[in-house]
Amino acid sequence: MSDEVKLTPFHDNYINRILTHEWINDPVIMKGILRTDKTTYENHNKWWEDKYYSGCASLTKENSEHFFITEGKVNVGCVRLRNVEEYNQSCELMIYIGSQTRRGKGVAYKAMLQAIAYCFKRIAVHKIYVTVAEDNVIARHLYKKCGFVEEGVFRDAFYQGDKYINIIKMALINE
Ligand SMILES: CC(C)(COP(=O)(O)OP(=O)(O)OC[C@H]1O[C@@H](n2cnc3c(N)ncnc32)[C@H](O)[C@@H]1OP(=O)(O)O)[C@@H](O)C(=O)NCCC(=O)NCCS
Repeated sequence: MSDEVKLTPFHDNYINRILTHEWINDPVIMKGILRTDKTTYENHNKWWEDKYYSGCASLTKENSEHFFITEGKVNVGCVRLRNVEEYNQSCELMIYIGSQTRRGKGVAYKAMLQAIAYCFKRIAVHKIYVTVAEDNVIARHLYKKCGFVEEGVFRDAFYQGDKYINIIKMALINE
Protein backbone atom coordinates (compact mmCIF):
# COMPACT_ATOMS: atom_id res chain seq x y z
CA MET A 1 0.00 0.00 0.00
CA SER A 2 1.49 3.34 -0.96
CA ASP A 3 -1.58 5.52 -0.41
CA GLU A 4 -1.31 8.94 1.14
CA VAL A 5 -1.46 9.03 4.94
CA LYS A 6 -3.85 11.57 6.39
CA LEU A 7 -5.76 12.31 9.58
CA THR A 8 -9.52 11.97 9.26
CA PRO A 9 -11.77 13.33 12.00
CA PHE A 10 -13.19 10.37 13.86
CA HIS A 11 -16.66 9.52 12.75
CA ASP A 12 -18.49 7.78 15.56
CA ASN A 13 -20.64 5.01 14.11
CA TYR A 14 -21.26 1.31 14.58
CA ILE A 15 -18.58 0.13 12.13
CA ASN A 16 -15.93 2.40 13.62
CA ARG A 17 -16.77 1.32 17.15
CA ILE A 18 -16.24 -2.30 16.09
CA LEU A 19 -12.90 -1.41 14.54
CA THR A 20 -11.61 0.56 17.54
CA HIS A 21 -12.88 -2.12 19.92
CA GLU A 22 -10.80 -4.70 18.04
CA TRP A 23 -7.74 -2.44 18.09
CA ILE A 24 -7.81 -1.53 21.76
CA ASN A 25 -7.92 -5.23 22.68
CA ASP A 26 -4.75 -5.94 20.70
CA PRO A 27 -2.06 -6.82 23.29
CA VAL A 28 0.57 -4.63 21.57
CA ILE A 29 -1.71 -1.62 21.63
CA MET A 30 -2.90 -2.32 25.17
CA LYS A 31 0.69 -2.38 26.38
CA GLY A 32 1.55 0.75 24.39
CA ILE A 33 -1.38 2.85 25.55
CA LEU A 34 -1.10 1.61 29.13
CA ARG A 35 -4.23 -0.47 29.40
CA THR A 36 -4.24 -3.69 31.38
CA ASP A 37 -7.71 -5.16 30.84
CA LYS A 38 -9.43 -6.19 27.65
CA THR A 39 -12.82 -4.64 27.20
CA THR A 40 -16.09 -6.09 25.92
CA TYR A 41 -17.89 -4.46 23.04
CA GLU A 42 -20.65 -3.44 25.47
CA ASN A 43 -18.14 -1.70 27.73
CA HIS A 44 -16.45 -0.06 24.76
CA ASN A 45 -19.83 1.34 23.72
CA LYS A 46 -20.51 2.46 27.26
CA TRP A 47 -17.13 4.21 27.28
CA TRP A 48 -18.13 6.17 24.20
CA GLU A 49 -21.53 7.02 25.63
CA ASP A 50 -20.53 7.79 29.23
CA LYS A 51 -16.89 8.72 29.53
CA TYR A 52 -16.10 10.38 26.27
CA TYR A 53 -19.33 12.27 26.28
CA SER A 54 -19.51 13.21 29.94
CA GLY A 55 -17.82 11.47 32.87
CA CYS A 56 -14.06 11.51 32.14
CA ALA A 57 -12.34 14.80 32.94
CA SER A 58 -9.38 14.34 30.57
CA LEU A 59 -11.59 13.24 27.70
CA THR A 60 -14.74 15.26 27.21
CA LYS A 61 -16.29 16.55 24.03
CA GLU A 62 -14.81 19.95 24.82
CA ASN A 63 -11.21 18.96 25.61
CA SER A 64 -10.51 16.07 23.26
CA GLU A 65 -10.32 15.30 19.57
CA HIS A 66 -10.13 11.95 17.84
CA PHE A 67 -8.76 11.16 14.41
CA PHE A 68 -8.39 8.08 12.31
CA ILE A 69 -5.08 7.63 10.57
CA THR A 70 -6.21 6.85 7.05
CA GLU A 71 -4.19 5.39 4.22
CA GLY A 72 -6.09 5.93 1.00
CA LYS A 73 -9.58 5.08 2.19
CA VAL A 74 -8.55 2.59 4.85
CA ASN A 75 -8.47 3.44 8.55
CA VAL A 76 -5.30 1.96 10.01
CA GLY A 77 -4.92 3.66 13.37
CA CYS A 78 -5.84 6.51 15.66
CA VAL A 79 -4.51 9.78 16.98
CA ARG A 80 -6.16 11.21 20.05
CA LEU A 81 -5.70 14.65 21.57
CA ARG A 82 -6.94 14.99 25.11
CA ASN A 83 -6.61 17.33 28.06
CA VAL A 84 -6.66 20.20 25.60
CA GLU A 85 -6.14 23.14 27.95
CA GLU A 86 -6.96 26.59 26.73
CA TYR A 87 -5.34 28.44 29.62
CA ASN A 88 -1.98 26.62 29.45
CA GLN A 89 -2.26 26.11 25.69
CA SER A 90 -1.26 22.47 25.93
CA CYS A 91 -2.60 19.07 25.01
CA GLU A 92 -1.73 15.42 25.41
CA LEU A 93 -1.27 13.29 22.31
CA MET A 94 -1.68 9.54 21.90
CA ILE A 95 -1.17 7.45 18.77
CA TYR A 96 -1.48 3.84 17.75
CA ILE A 97 -1.41 1.90 14.53
CA GLY A 98 -4.29 -0.56 14.85
CA SER A 99 -3.60 -2.49 11.68
CA GLN A 100 -0.77 -4.89 12.54
CA THR A 101 0.37 -5.12 8.91
CA ARG A 102 0.82 -1.34 8.70
CA ARG A 103 3.21 -1.00 11.64
CA GLY A 104 6.87 -0.31 10.97
CA LYS A 105 6.15 1.29 7.58
CA GLY A 106 6.49 4.95 8.46
CA VAL A 107 2.74 5.52 8.84
CA ALA A 108 2.93 6.77 12.44
CA TYR A 109 5.71 9.20 11.57
CA LYS A 110 3.67 10.75 8.75
CA ALA A 111 0.59 10.90 11.00
CA MET A 112 2.61 12.51 13.81
CA LEU A 113 3.84 15.31 11.54
CA GLN A 114 0.25 16.09 10.60
CA ALA A 115 -0.96 15.87 14.20
CA ILE A 116 1.80 18.25 15.33
CA ALA A 117 0.95 20.72 12.57
CA TYR A 118 -2.72 20.51 13.54
CA CYS A 119 -1.92 21.14 17.22
CA PHE A 120 0.36 24.10 16.61
CA LYS A 121 -1.48 25.72 13.71
CA ARG A 122 -5.15 24.83 14.07
CA ILE A 123 -5.75 24.62 17.81
CA ALA A 124 -2.70 26.78 18.49
CA VAL A 125 -1.33 24.98 21.54
CA HIS A 126 2.11 25.93 22.79
CA LYS A 127 3.01 22.50 24.13
CA ILE A 128 2.19 18.89 23.16
CA TYR A 129 3.06 16.15 25.60
CA VAL A 130 3.00 12.36 25.56
CA THR A 131 3.05 9.73 28.28
CA VAL A 132 5.00 6.63 27.35
CA ALA A 133 6.21 3.48 29.08
CA GLU A 134 9.97 3.47 29.58
CA ASP A 135 10.28 0.15 27.74
CA ASN A 136 8.27 1.35 24.70
CA VAL A 137 11.39 1.96 22.65
CA ILE A 138 9.54 2.26 19.34
CA ALA A 139 7.22 5.02 20.56
CA ARG A 140 10.03 6.85 22.34
CA HIS A 141 12.11 6.70 19.16
CA LEU A 142 9.15 7.94 17.12
CA TYR A 143 8.48 10.88 19.43
CA LYS A 144 12.16 11.79 19.59
CA LYS A 145 12.35 11.72 15.80
CA CYS A 146 9.44 14.20 15.79
CA GLY A 147 11.34 16.55 18.11
CA PHE A 148 9.87 15.57 21.48
CA VAL A 149 12.23 15.90 24.42
CA GLU A 150 12.16 13.72 27.50
CA GLU A 151 11.18 15.77 30.54
CA GLY A 152 11.31 13.21 33.27
CA VAL A 153 10.88 9.68 34.52
CA PHE A 154 7.97 8.88 36.82
CA ARG A 155 9.15 5.83 38.69
CA ASP A 156 6.76 2.91 39.23
CA ALA A 157 3.98 5.15 38.00
CA PHE A 158 1.87 2.48 36.31
CA TYR A 159 0.92 -0.99 37.55
CA GLN A 160 1.00 -3.25 34.51
CA GLY A 161 -0.94 -6.23 35.84
CA ASP A 162 1.99 -7.89 37.60
CA LYS A 163 4.64 -5.22 38.00
CA TYR A 164 5.19 -1.49 38.31
CA ILE A 165 6.72 0.25 35.33
CA ASN A 166 8.34 3.63 34.85
CA ILE A 167 6.58 6.24 32.76
CA ILE A 168 8.37 8.89 30.71
CA LYS A 169 6.86 12.28 29.95
CA MET A 170 8.01 13.77 26.64
CA ALA A 171 7.02 17.09 25.16
CA LEU A 172 7.34 19.27 22.09
CA ILE A 173 7.16 23.04 22.46
CA ASN A 174 6.24 25.41 19.64
CA GLU A 175 9.24 27.76 19.82
C1 LIG B 1 4.48 3.23 18.33
C2 LIG B 1 3.77 3.06 17.00
C3 LIG B 1 2.63 4.08 16.91
C4 LIG B 1 4.77 3.31 15.86
O1 LIG B 1 4.06 3.21 14.63
P1 LIG B 1 4.76 2.78 13.27
O2 LIG B 1 3.92 3.19 12.13
O3 LIG B 1 5.08 1.37 13.38
O4 LIG B 1 6.08 3.68 13.32
P2 LIG B 1 6.92 4.14 12.06
O5 LIG B 1 6.89 3.04 11.04
O6 LIG B 1 6.47 5.48 11.63
O7 LIG B 1 8.39 4.16 12.65
C5 LIG B 1 8.82 5.19 13.47
C6 LIG B 1 10.23 4.86 13.88
O8 LIG B 1 10.24 3.73 14.76
C7 LIG B 1 11.05 2.69 14.19
N1 LIG B 1 10.40 1.40 14.38
C8 LIG B 1 9.16 1.06 13.97
N2 LIG B 1 8.91 -0.21 14.31
C9 LIG B 1 10.03 -0.67 14.91
C10 LIG B 1 10.39 -1.93 15.47
N3 LIG B 1 9.53 -2.97 15.50
N4 LIG B 1 11.63 -2.06 16.03
C11 LIG B 1 12.48 -1.00 16.05
N5 LIG B 1 12.19 0.22 15.52
C12 LIG B 1 10.97 0.37 14.96
C13 LIG B 1 11.14 2.98 12.72
O9 LIG B 1 12.31 2.43 12.17
C14 LIG B 1 11.10 4.48 12.70
O10 LIG B 1 12.37 5.03 12.96
P3 LIG B 1 13.41 5.44 11.77
O11 LIG B 1 12.63 6.26 10.83
O12 LIG B 1 14.49 6.17 12.50
O13 LIG B 1 13.84 4.16 11.16
C15 LIG B 1 3.21 1.62 16.80
O14 LIG B 1 4.26 0.72 17.00
C16 LIG B 1 2.08 1.29 17.74
O15 LIG B 1 0.92 1.51 17.41
N6 LIG B 1 2.42 0.72 18.91
C17 LIG B 1 1.39 0.35 19.91
C18 LIG B 1 0.75 1.55 20.57
C19 LIG B 1 1.78 2.49 21.17
O16 LIG B 1 2.75 2.07 21.77
N7 LIG B 1 1.52 3.79 21.00
C20 LIG B 1 2.33 4.82 21.62
C21 LIG B 1 1.70 5.17 22.95
S1 LIG B 1 2.74 6.23 23.89
